[in-house]
Amino acid sequence: MWKAVVTAAVAFVLLFCRSSTLDNGLARTPPMGWLAWERFRCNVDCVDDPYNCISEELFMQMADRLAEDGWKELGYNYLNIDDCWMSMDRDEQGNLYANKTRFPNGIKKLADYVHSKGLKLGIYLDFGTHTCGGYPGSIKYLQKDAETIAGWGIDMLKMDGCYANVSDMSWGYPDMEMYMNKTGRPILFSCSWPAYAGGIKVDYSVLAKHCNAWRNYDDIQDSWDSVTHIIDWFGDNQDVLAPVAGPGHWNDPDMLIVGDYSLSYEESKAQMAMWAILAAPLFMSNDLRSISPEARSILMNKEVIRISQDSLGMQGRRVIKDHNGIDVWTRPIEFPDIPSYGVAFLNRRSDGIPYNYTLTPGDLNFKCGSCLGYQLTDVFSGQDYGHCAPFQEFTVSIVPNGVVMVYAVPTSLDVTSKLR
Ligand code: GLA
Repeated sequence: MWKAVVTAAVAFVLLFCRSSTLDNGLARTPPMGWLAWERFRCNVDCVDDPYNCISEELFMQMADRLAEDGWKELGYNYLNIDDCWMSMDRDEQGNLYANKTRFPNGIKKLADYVHSKGLKLGIYLDFGTHTCGGYPGSIKYLQKDAETIAGWGIDMLKMDGCYANVSDMSWGYPDMEMYMNKTGRPILFSCSWPAYAGGIKVDYSVLAKHCNAWRNYDDIQDSWDSVTHIIDWFGDNQDVLAPVAGPGHWNDPDMLIVGDYSLSYEESKAQMAMWAILAAPLFMSNDLRSISPEARSILMNKEVIRISQDSLGMQGRRVIKDHNGIDVWTRPIEFPDIPSYGVAFLNRRSDGIPYNYTLTPGDLNFKCGSCLGYQLTDVFSGQDYGHCAPFQEFTVSIVPNGVVMVYAVPTSLDVTSKLR
């Protein structure tokens, strides 16, 4: 008799208790890949614009580029569909399906193709009644949609929050996570919940239990103003945001627009550097079929990617704000005993010459401990600034709307070789 009671109790626990953390093992470092939205939007005109419309052809071509042009090897392995992939209606059983003209072979076939290239496929749903582009929403179909995408072999879900009550999100996003877990397929879960709940008016500890990443704030647009607006918001709210980021759960300032129309070369470097300092997901939204060599070299910079993907998973902070027009951000990386740092000097000045900025490692509150000082190396140019004692001055020269990014490695350790 007691055996039956114990068995029933165990079954009850297994059935009704949820784990308290999102334990899908994914996104131990900020996820990387490509996402359609910023560059390709909701272009569904495959008659007049077949090369750029949201279609299986577009995603297969981007998969080819990710797999064949060296992106995948650097970590850019998620290929993500965004809005406007669906048919306008569900089928008679209530299932979602892709637009049949633009995705004639369906999403499962596309997933098979993407997997055959050694990549992962992400898809987009919306928690509300409709997606932001007006396609069917998931609010009444969470379990069904979780099962559908798992059945297709989807590896990542971006769940948007248009046409929904923010108050419903506190059960809706956790429910979606539960239904995806139940499918048994690990699916990286990106939640747009905070972006709809005012950015900082959410309990991020709850978010971290249910989501691998979350969009916090405004959509990025193709402009330097948009990039700096987002960076400033992350700096202004860093006391809320930085502590909640870590392996498995990341703040997301939105896509990288490097390689698109608006950013200069220097501005592109600045976005890449800042996204690495912020421990942000690195989802490019650009045209990999025609990307310039300059944009490619920025996005493929191994040293910046190394900072982005650092295993400590600590989000960086703005430690100096607008001192003579320069913001300085630091991110602790790798060596936990005597931390080293990624440092970004962001020039907000509009006078047209490079600005020489002088400071000491001590000004940045580096926790040097017993170290002799720091070896400073420019991440983009490779310039060696030499060894700098904790209160010894060094100078960086930063162009307008540009960044200088350095590694600061404690010199009491023989670590420089490990970084190369
Ligand atoms: C919202 C999201 C964007 C994109 C669009 C699609 O605006 O924030 O990232 O997914 O919807 O309609």
